[in-house]
Parts: sequence; structure tokens; C-alpha cells
Amino acid sequence: MATPLVIDTDPGIDDALAILLALASPEVDLRLVTTVHGNVELAQTTDNALRVLHLAGRSDVPVAAGARDSLVYRQPERAGHVHGGTGLGGVRLEPSPAAPDPRPAVVALAEVLLAAEAPVTVAAIGPWTNVALLLATYPEAAERIGRLVLMGGSAARGGNVTAAAEFNVWADPEAAQRVLGSGVPAVLVGLDVTLPTVLDDDGIARFAAAGPVGEAAAAILQQYVDHARTSYGTSGVVLHDALALTEAIVPGTLGTVRRDVVVDTTLGAGRGQTLVDRRTVSDSPTAVEVAETVDSAAAVEFLVSRMAALTRSAG
Ligand code: BDR
Ligand code: CA
Repeated sequence: MATPLVIDTDPGIDDALAILLALASPEVDLRLVTTVHGNVELAQTTDNALRVLHLAGRSDVPVAAGARDSLVYRQPERAGHVHGGTGLGGVRLEPSPAAPDPRPAVVALAEVLLAAEAPVTVAAIGPWTNVALLLATYPEAAERIGRLVLMGGSAARGGNVTAAAEFNVWADPEAAQRVLGSGVPAVLVGLDVTLPTVLDDDGIARFAAAGPVGEAAAAILQQYVDHARTSYGTSGVVLHDALALTEAIVPGTLGTVRRDVVVDTTLGAGRGQTLVDRRTVSDSPTAVEVAETVDSAAAVEFLVSRMAALTRSAG
């Protein structure tokens, strides 16, 4: 049986790719997409999620809008310089015929969790505000989470948005601390494994050639390719969110070690840093599996072949 999956997301170019990867993967059954503030404003992330699902012919998947802002401190900074003003690299995908689900994201998420016949995988690939709200408001539903796959943080690589912090954690450090300290079984997919995992022009060209869905995905990715070249000096797209989805789809893709992790929630230069205790393997109930090793070439090949197959089946 396919594992029930919920994606909590802020599309976002690499989020769009991650959603398409989930739709291309028979191992998971995407039951719900919840949206959050992050790369762009909530109204835009919600509209983008609807459009991406429609692109793949899956406007039947409900999209519920969640938190407009972080839990404690206002977070007005977005990432339009990375993802384009609309969050999808300036590409205007066709509008979806579907409207957002009328339920707030946490309500929709709780209902999906409680109704599921099997433990649900939740992949959180934007700021983790919605997940923190779920833990606070529906703890009994949060217990139905089989695996929480979290894109965010960094153990040894420093940050990408500040010297210390990765974007998703930095965008809501208090939520991140609440989630990491919750004891829900979690895998932390941070910059240590995402930064070396780069999709290059040849890979993009392979799914772009397969049909219109791949072509649209390639157009969306162009802005990110340009940004990565100038900011990271890499020759393509860093697969942050798609790598997290790969771990959600095929558990064990990444090499993980159980570690204690705390988030710097002070207001100084370290705000949003994930302090990963790499001295020991932890047996604490609140420790999380930290992704430390990755076969980047295999992960990129997985994504490209799944995207090509999705494109062919949708065309
Ligand atoms: C994370 O930040 C966002 O810009 C990306 O979508 C990804 O989720 C990487 O730091
Ligand atoms: Ca994201």
C-alpha cells in the first residue's frame, strides 16, 4: 500500500519540483498540500501550489492555506531574489480550476491524520509554523505522524540565509524549536546533504524533452539555476526540497544519525542556527535523525527519471 503523504510547503521553485516528484512516485499517496508563508507571501504560495498540482493534472489534491507569519516575531523578509517575485521563477502557470480548501491548514492536516488508515508521512519543506501549530492544537492528531521529514537546518555547513542559519529554520526559529523538541519521529534534511545535490542543465534537459509538464518545470527552474550560479557557484539547481521528498518517498535514501538538536532562538547573529550535537549518537526521546550522508548522483538520477516518467504519463 502507498504511504499516505502530506506536503507542507511554500512554493517556491524547489518546492514545486518536490510536489511534482511526489506526484510521480507510486510509493506515496499525496492526500493534502498545506501552505505556509516563506519564499513568498501565503496567498502566493497557496496559488502556486494549486497551479503546480493543476499542471500535473492533479487538481483533485486539496490545498489548505496555513500560517501567514511566524509564531513569535514578524518575518517580513521573503526570498523573491531566489524564487522570482511570484515564487515560480516568473513563469505564469495556468490557473487551477480548484479553489483552496476552506479549512485552515492545521484543521485539514489534523483531519487527514486522524482519518488515515496508516501512519502518515508529513514532509515540511517551508518554515515549520504549521507543524508547530498542529503540535499545540491537535497533539492527538500529531501522534498519527509516522515520519516527519523536515527540510531545514545545517549541522556543519553554516547557513544559507545568514552565516549561521538555513532559510526554513531562520524564517520561524521558535516553531522549529517546538517541532524538533516534540518527540515526533523526524528526519532532518539540511544543507549538509542538500548543497552537494545539484541538478544540472543536462538533467533538466532530459525531462524538458519528455513533454509539456517537464518543459514547464524546466522553465520554472531557470531562475533558480541563474541564482545558484551567482550565489553558490554551482552549475545548477540545489535540490533542497526535492531531496527531502526523496527521503519521504524512499526512507533510507539518506544516511542519518540520531542526534540532539536545538535551535538558536536568541535575537543575535546566531538566530535560526540548528545546533546539532555531533559528539554522540543520542538515545534521548526528543533526538532526531539528522541526514549526514547522501549519494547525490543517485538522488539526481531518481528525480530526473521520475520527472521524465511523470511528463510522459501526463502528456
Ligand atoms: C529552503 O529555503 C527555501 O528557499 C527553499 O524552498 C528550501 O525549502 C532551503 O534553505
Ligand atoms: Ca521550500
